[in-house]
Amino acid sequence: MNTGCANILIVDDTLANLQLLAGILKEAGYKVRPALSGKQALEAIKNQPPDLILLDIKMPDMDGYEVCRTLKSQPETKAIPIIFISALTDIEDKLKAFQAGGLDYISKPFQFEEVKARVWTHLQLKSYQNEMEEKVMAGVRNVQLLTEEVIDTQREIIFTMGEICETRSHETGSHIKRVAEYCYLLAHLAGSDDAWQIKQASPMHDIGKVAIPDAVLHKPGKLNESEWKVMRSHAELGYKMLSVSRRPLLQMAATIAHEHHEKWDGSGYPRGLKGTEISFAGRVTAIADVFDALNHKRCYKDAWTLEQVWAFLREQRGKHFDPELIDLFFEFQADFLKINEKYR
Ligand SMILES: [Fe+2]
Ligand SMILES: [Fe+2]
Repeated sequence: MNTGCANILIVDDTLANLQLLAGILKEAGYKVRPALSGKQALEAIKNQPPDLILLDIKMPDMDGYEVCRTLKSQPETKAIPIIFISALTDIEDKLKAFQAGGLDYISKPFQFEEVKARVWTHLQLKSYQNEMEEKVMAGVRNVQLLTEEVIDTQREIIFTMGEICETRSHETGSHIKRVAEYCYLLAHLAGSDDAWQIKQASPMHDIGKVAIPDAVLHKPGKLNESEWKVMRSHAELGYKMLSVSRRPLLQMAATIAHEHHEKWDGSGYPRGLKGTEISFAGRVTAIADVFDALNHKRCYKDAWTLEQVWAFLREQRGKHFDPELIDLFFEFQADFLKINEKYR
């Protein structure tokens, strides 16, 4: 704000006072608007908020205190500096003016130079304040942009890592995308606040497979017992790889990698956790991962029919899978199938 051409509203019910003040301020280079009552002032402010208000106290209908309190209670007008001008000289009246939200008080009869000096000072202060606010807002915007950048980078790295392990395990191209979407939907339906984070972290559930030898990972047909043992180690391996990071998203990914093969009845691996000993994210990913694996062809098996998939999920309710989550999955099966169609 250029304080020289600032816009000032003068409110006084005495025309002579208005003319006098307007004359002084116009001469000093300000744009001046007069108002003869509190109501007129509020109207004028609504049409065009001034940079500063000179406000008389004793006016019929609505006095200056009330005008001031009204302006201070509204977000659009509360920052406008208000200087009271009044013939009331009692300390009580002055205090009341400050309590109503006034910044300053000039007693009538006023000195021209004093009015000009106070107006100038308050306009300067307001201008510094605006400048500071703009700088703070610019700083906040910068921090927001940087934070978004960091989050996006994390997301991209996680997704790329998921794609690497997908390529390595020769899975169908969109497996991790679908698993992420199923996870999000299921967690969201269950009312979890972590749905978004689970979606971001789930693509890495099989990251441990990058450390499994080709002979085991790509063996056509059934694995023998010792090969199975190696294969199963991908859960623990994935957990070890990811848990070195303290980032919440990677911590979540570590948990999911560790627990996506645990089963509700305790017969899963690597730790044989039972029921809610398995984290919510682990239980959600288990359903999403199995549902998608059965639905699509793998090197060691053909795709199942939908009837077979649903029958298996139902049969495994309370065995492999969290019964409540399976119930939700069935309740909203149409939505899950839509995701399957979308990322075919
Ligand atoms: Fe796995
Ligand atoms: Fe998977």
